[in-house]
Amino acid sequence: MSHLIAPSLLAADFTQLHKEAEMLNQSLADWYHLDVMDGRFVPNISFGQMFIKFFRSLTDKILDVHLMIEEPERYVDSFREAGADLISVHVEATKHAHRVIQQIKESGAKAGIALNPHTPISSIENILEDVDMIVLMSVNPGFGGQKFIYNTIKKVAELKSMLIERNLNPHIEIDGGVGLQNAEKLLQAGANVLVAGSSVFKSEKPTETIERLKNVGLKNLHF
Ligand code: DX5
Ligand code: ZN
Repeated sequence: MSHLIAPSLLAADFTQLHKEAEMLNQSLADWYHLDVMDGRFVPNISFGQMFIKFFRSLTDKILDVHLMIEEPERYVDSFREAGADLISVHVEATKHAHRVIQQIKESGAKAGIALNPHTPISSIENILEDVDMIVLMSVNPGFGGQKFIYNTIKKVAELKSMLIERNLNPHIEIDGGVGLQNAEKLLQAGANVLVAGSSVFKSEKPTETIERLKNVGLKNLHF
């Protein structure tokens, strides 16, 4: 299966959200990536359940909700009710990552575990079997438009080989500073979902940028 593109709405024009959603719906974007921030786990505050509900009413595409909040277990169910298809929580934000992953699945959503740039892959070794997705942060979470941390490529490769060894195939999503300049390297290392905020919404032609991101690597495939 070809890789997936998940534009991050954090970089969208918030005065034109209907238009932005329309653009995404007409594009090759696979998922909507929605960044929820609480001002505690990360320094920034973004939006909550009502925002997710709003986009639920505008699209049939997958809503990929990235919770950058402390004690996410308190809010998982309400984000599911708001329309999230996939909910990712940070391993650093909860004392009970395994329990929260089960809670997400019981709610009916797919479950992702997210790791900050400094957090080693070994921290999720014991829950790899339980998750539908691993999110590797390639910037420190909290803001869009930051510089890609290059060490992520090594981390992706490490994670991928661990998954192969165990015969597991969850999504590997990369979040932060992703664009045409590093997409191919990330995919080669084993990632299959690319979050792209600024590189899509701040580009001159977002629809075309999404298409180009979607086509990265295809020229190298021979059937
Ligand atoms: C960062 C967020 C990212 C962010 C990505 O805390 O989790 O999803 O929106 O934005 P860009 O692609 O601009 O780095
Ligand atoms: Zn995110």
